[in-house]
Amino acid sequence: MDHGAASPVSSPSPGAGRNLSRLTRRKPVERLVAESGHGEGGLLRRSLGVWQLTAISIGATLGTGIFVVLGEAVPEAGPAVTVSFVLAGLTALFSALSYAELAGTIPVSGSSYTYTYATMGELLGWVIGWCLILEYGVSVAAVAVGWGEYLNELLDGTVGATIPAALSAPPGDGGIVNLPALLVVLLAMALLLGGARESARANAAMVAVKIGALLMFCAVAATGVRAGNYTPFAPLGVAGINAAAATLFFSYIGFDAASTAGEEARNPRRDLPRAIVLSLVIVTVLYCLVAAVAVGALPWQDFTGTEAALAGIMEEVTGRAFWSVLLALGAVVAIASVVLAVLYGQTRILFSMSRDGLIPRVFSRVHPRTGTPRAGTLIVAAFCGTLAAVVPLGRLADATSIGTLFAFALVNVSVVVLRRTHPRAPRGFRVPLSPLLPALGLGFCVWTMAGLDAVTWTVFGLWLAGGLAVYFSYGIRHSRLNEPGRPAAADEPAG
Ligand code: ALA
Repeated sequence: MDHGAASPVSSPSPGAGRNLSRLTRRKPVERLVAESGHGEGGLLRRSLGVWQLTAISIGATLGTGIFVVLGEAVPEAGPAVTVSFVLAGLTALFSALSYAELAGTIPVSGSSYTYTYATMGELLGWVIGWCLILEYGVSVAAVAVGWGEYLNELLDGTVGATIPAALSAPPGDGGIVNLPALLVVLLAMALLLGGARESARANAAMVAVKIGALLMFCAVAATGVRAGNYTPFAPLGVAGINAAAATLFFSYIGFDAASTAGEEARNPRRDLPRAIVLSLVIVTVLYCLVAAVAVGALPWQDFTGTEAALAGIMEEVTGRAFWSVLLALGAVVAIASVVLAVLYGQTRILFSMSRDGLIPRVFSRVHPRTGTPRAGTLIVAAFCGTLAAVVPLGRLADATSIGTLFAFALVNVSVVVLRRTHPRAPRGFRVPLSPLLPALGLGFCVWTMAGLDAVTWTVFGLWLAGGLAVYFSYGIRHSRLNEPGRPAAADEPAG
């Protein structure tokens, strides 16, 4: 049965019915797989193995959340922040399993945008692609701003000087331009222009440094752990644990980044699911370890108002500034790799949307020498760099979580839909106990979204309205599914 497929748009069908069928037309899975790797004028280069894919996901995930946001979450939950990390990790895990199945079935670069396009139609696919700009493009800018703050901390600890506010904050936040934030985006752009393999190598090195920095933190800070700091364990009760879990969800965003690399993976069906699940497991274990040591070494009340909580703990435990400087260095590298991996993901999602005709073709033009979407990378970096340099991001950054959760929610639905429409398609991984686990994943996402405040929902609503305006003025008319002889989905097994 074909639940969402439209007749080819070239066939005459009057007014409203025709428009409705355009909105629900689905891109056939077979065609998605057949087009894999093909851009405008060239092919993406398949160069990434399972470890590099895992490093892309860890690269995009492990950064501001553990180095900065942990300090905000501890006062909400007390020592039970470790439980909050597990809860937030569970929310991510159910969705990660769904991502793993879809990435192993439709191993192309568009991540949840593509999965939704193939299962629930063009309009919802577009909406998710638009949400992914919040998860990727806007969060690059937000994370780049956090990088600038840590850079200043590092400069302060090493050369005793900081970049003045005028040059390290946007207008509206007491400055003129945020140069460090712009700088880190440009650095990431330069690496990406060099090629996927080169950027993946740089990313893997940075991932090694940040995991090393967190393990070093655990080893050093463990010497200062006092059992008394763990009691009372949950001074603010279940409500506190839940509130901290919602805050900490941000620290898990990015595990899905490997799914944007489907067309540059050597063996995507096998390696993408492994990379997604492996990265989430590694990150969750690290987070819980770091959190347990942090609240054991510093009384939870003392986290209030601390910006660089982990660096402060290192200094307190050892009595020497050297260790906190080392940790700040680790954080600078960690956050830079988030910028790199997330910027990479954004260029590949836009690549897929452009190949489908929903945004201009320039985003899917592949450079013949590097095998990467160079023009698209330049445009995305210019957009994110400008956003990071001159826009005070505050609320927009909060919207990152809601956009991500919405995308995760639909990924959980897509798994179930694809099992029905393409039961025999080859799958590199199958979610166990489907549809129970995808349903739990969906439930967790909806529940976490419901906990977000009204302002965040309003920003999200405005963002979606903007996205719909772009779709109805451009995407619907330029969709490649409009082309004669290119039918929408028919439900046959993917080859
Ligand atoms: N999870 C990413 C971070 O914590 C966004 O920086």
